[in-house]
Amino acid sequence: SNVVYFKSIDSTQTKAHELARQGAKHGTIVIANEQTNGKGRLGRSWFSNEGKGIWMSILLRPSFSYNEAPQITLFASIILTNALRSLYGIDIRIKWPNDLYFEKKKIAGILTEMHGEQDQIHYLIIGIGINTHKTKYPLELKQKAGSLEEFINQNPKRIEILCKFLEQFEKNYELFHQKGFAPFFDEYNQLLLKKGTPIVVTQSTSFIYGQIYGVDENGYLIVKKENGEMIKVVSGDITI
Ligand code: BTN
Repeated sequence: SNVVYFKSIDSTQTKAHELARQGAKHGTIVIANEQTNGKGRLGRSWFSNEGKGIWMSILLRPSFSYNEAPQITLFASIILTNALRSLYGIDIRIKWPNDLYFEKKKIAGILTEMHGEQDQIHYLIIGIGINTHKTKYPLELKQKAGSLEEFINQNPKRIEILCKFLEQFEKNYELFHQKGFAPFFDEYNQLLLKKGTPIVVTQSTSFIYGQIYGVDENGYLIVKKENGEMIKVVSGDITI
């Protein structure tokens, strides 16, 4: 596939959108050593210091519909979690829907954006940010952000992580494309932050207190509320 590298760029995500509009091929990868305006989920920014992580966006032109698309983020989070676990042997977990955590620190995040009509996606971009190396995080991130280097007793090699991830992504993509999330649902649950972890679900203006129970075959989060009632969370933000 086609890999486009930048030493520094505003955002690989923005660049990937631009290339997609110009007709770039399925499988095009945009990667940068530094982002000056990295984008996170829910309109947040993503801290992407020079040389301190892997900042990349993958352009896909799938033939599934809009409804199935959000699950590709869950798929990507499984692949990435497994890649990092197999390389470094640490117990990385997925915080629903697609944040990678080690203990209480967020190591990686995924942002999926799509463009098209209800029944047919024109293109989809999966943006992945992996904090590989130690860096000075801004004050507001200090509490929750972490890098791989803090938790493994070796120097993480970005090229090694990238290769492992892409190899596994490519190997499993066809299955996801044909069968959707169902074949990966068990594995996702195994990698999910442990059952019983207390969480707060934020939905626009309300908060729900409960515990993680698991995800269903659609990738929705099942939360056990304090009163024992089970609810499904389709979207929103959770805090541990
Ligand atoms: C999140 O909020 O957890 C998602 C973060 C996604 C960050 C990546 S870094 C590469 C790509 N380019 C961006 O501007 N954002 C994504």
